[in-house]
Amino acid sequence: MLEALDLHKHYHQGEIDVVAVNHFTYAFPPGLTAIVGPSGSGKTTLLNLLAGFDVPSRGEVRLDGQPLSRLSEDARAELRLRYMGFVFQQWNLIPTLTALENVAFPLMLAGVTPKERVNRARHLLETVGLGQRAAHLPSKLSGGEQQRVAIARALALNPPILFADEPTGNLDSASGARVVDLLLHQAQEGRTVILVTHDLELARKAARILHLRDGKLLRVEEASLERA
Ligand SMILES: Nc1ncnc2c1ncn2[C@@H]1O[C@H](COP(=O)(O)OP(=O)(O)O)[C@@H](O)[C@H]1O
Ligand SMILES: [Mg+2]
Repeated sequence: MLEALDLHKHYHQGEIDVVAVNHFTYAFPPGLTAIVGPSGSGKTTLLNLLAGFDVPSRGEVRLDGQPLSRLSEDARAELRLRYMGFVFQQWNLIPTLTALENVAFPLMLAGVTPKERVNRARHLLETVGLGQRAAHLPSKLSGGEQQRVAIARALALNPPILFADEPTGNLDSASGARVVDLLLHQAQEGRTVILVTHDLELARKAARILHLRDGKLLRVEEASLERA
């Protein structure tokens, strides 16, 4: 279980003190949670704190009860590799590697044998509907296909937590819906999936929507029963 306890993050921009995340408290249950809010409301800062890329000014993030801030940078990196997968808006894939090699990359970092890497990467590409695109470079894939490769790669080490920061930001609505459906499917398999989006229509697919304004959690909207 991933928990944020009274998280606070401020940045100094010259003379100005910007509060990016303000007293944010929430325990993320398994399933799909969407975080929505206007540009500058602190969504990316919050994800960076939850993933331990960044340290809070106050408060803490706990993963299964363990405060991330007590860990060294290296220990946090190790924990991310095992527990967390990431999909970003852009620059997700390594341009000189094929789709298959991109998906296999984290498996290499984790010391999986070459043969097993290829097998698992193939299977993951099939899961996202791209079995036929394994040998393509990212530049030969559409934006939606690239995001699906990115999801396959994020799932390579079978992480219990998946973060996606505006993964549909550069996509047309049909490709965006397909990407969110894939995330939803992962959530239904029992993962904790945290989707940041400013697209409220896509967010409606989630089990719950956290509304963020000026770094504050304004309200939590639970999905109606027919949606959940
Ligand atoms: N590294 C940084 N240094 C200074 N200010 C930052 C930094 N990152 C974000 N901010 C500020 O924090 C606020 C929240 O930004 P961000 O988390 O990127 O919002 P969102 O992802 O919702 O658009 C903004 O006012 C932004 O300018
Ligand atoms: Mg952002």
